[in-house]
Amino acid sequence: SPNEELRTDIVTLTSHIIAQQQLSPKPATGDLSLLLSAIGSACKWISNVVRKAELLKVIGATGVTNVQAETVQKLDILSNEIFINLLKGTGRAAVLVSEENEEAIFIDTPRGHYCVVFDPLDGSSNIDCGVSVGTIFGIYELRDRSSKPSVKDVLRPGTEMVAAGYCMYGSSTIMMLTSGQGVDGFTLDPNTGEFLLTHKQVKLGKKKIYSINEGNAHAFDDAVKEYLHSVKFPPAVNGKVPAYSARYVGSMVADVHRTLLYGGIFMYPTGKLRILYECFPMSFLMEQAGGKSSTGRIRMLDVVPDNLHARAGIFLGTTEEVEKVEALYRKMD
Ligand code: AHG
Ligand code: MN
Ligand code: MN
Ligand code: MN
Repeated sequence: SPNEELRTDIVTLTSHIIAQQQLSPKPATGDLSLLLSAIGSACKWISNVVRKAELLKVIGATGVTNVQAETVQKLDILSNEIFINLLKGTGRAAVLVSEENEEAIFIDTPRGHYCVVFDPLDGSSNIDCGVSVGTIFGIYELRDRSSKPSVKDVLRPGTEMVAAGYCMYGSSTIMMLTSGQGVDGFTLDPNTGEFLLTHKQVKLGKKKIYSINEGNAHAFDDAVKEYLHSVKFPPAVNGKVPAYSARYVGSMVADVHRTLLYGGIFMYPTGKLRILYECFPMSFLMEQAGGKSSTGRIRMLDVVPDNLHARAGIFLGTTEEVEKVEALYRKMD
C-alpha cells in the first residue's frame, strides 16, 4: 500500500462528525458536533498526559478516596479537570456527571441542551504498571429545554442516549464512537494530533473469548458459575472441543475494546461497574456493533439508574454468549 503519509482519503473525527450531522433525523444545530469535537480534544490531552505520567511525576495515588470509596489516582483528577473544562468551554453542556464528582455539575448557559456523563479515566488502578486505560462517555439531550436542568435529565434509561463512546490509551490512542448509526473508530496520529477514521462501521468479531475477574468467583450467582463451567469444559461438537480463550485486562475500556474487535463476552457480575458512565456507553456501542449487553436478567440499556453512581452486574459481547447467560439466569432464578 502507498506510504501512509501520502494517503489522501483522510477522514478526521471532525469531518466524520459533520458528515453524521447531515444524516441526523432532525435539523442539526451543530451543538452535538461541537460537544463531540471537545470530547476528542479532551481525550487527546488526556492521552498526552497519561503517556508522560511517570515523567511528569503525576503517577500514583492522591491519598484521597472518592465517592466510589476508591483511592483516587493523580491522573483521575487531572483527566477529570481536563474533561470538565473543555466541555464547559463549549457552552453546549447543561449537566455533567463524572465518576469523580459526587454531585452532578450544572452549567448555566443559554445553549446548553446536552448532558454528558463520563468516566474520565477508566482502569486507573492499572496506571502504575503501564496497562491500557481509557475515557468513557455518554450523551443525553435535556428532556425539555423549558424546564430547569436536574438529575432527572440523567437518571434515564440508556436507550435515551444520543451518542456514546470511549477513548483507549493503549499501544495506540483509539476512539470508538456511536451516535446511533453504527460504530466508527478513529486512531490518533501523534504527528498531526488528528483522529483519523481507521475502523468503519465496526461489527463484533467471532472469537470464543471469555473475560471475567475469577477472583470474585465466590460471589458469583449460580447462573454465572454454570456459564463459566460450560466455557471451560465445553461439550465436544462432532468430536471437536470448541475451546475458549480466557482474557482479562482489568481495565473495562481495554476488555471491551478487545470484545468489540475480536468478539467474546465480558462479564462483571458483582455490580462494581457504574451504570451511567460505564455500562450504558459500552452497551450502546455493543448493540450498534451487532452484539448484546445485559444485567443477566434484562437488557442493560433498559435499566433506569436510581442514582448517579448506581452500579449493575453486566454481561456484554457476542449475542450468542450473552443469551446463554440470560437463559441460565431464567433457569436458576
Ligand atoms: P475505574 O478505574 O474507572 O474506577 O474503573 C475500574 C473498573 C473497570 O475499569 C474494570 O473493568 C474494573 O474496574 C476492574 O475491576 P477488578 O480490578 O475488580 O477486576
Ligand atoms: Mn475509579
Ligand atoms: Mn471505570
Ligand atoms: Mn475512572
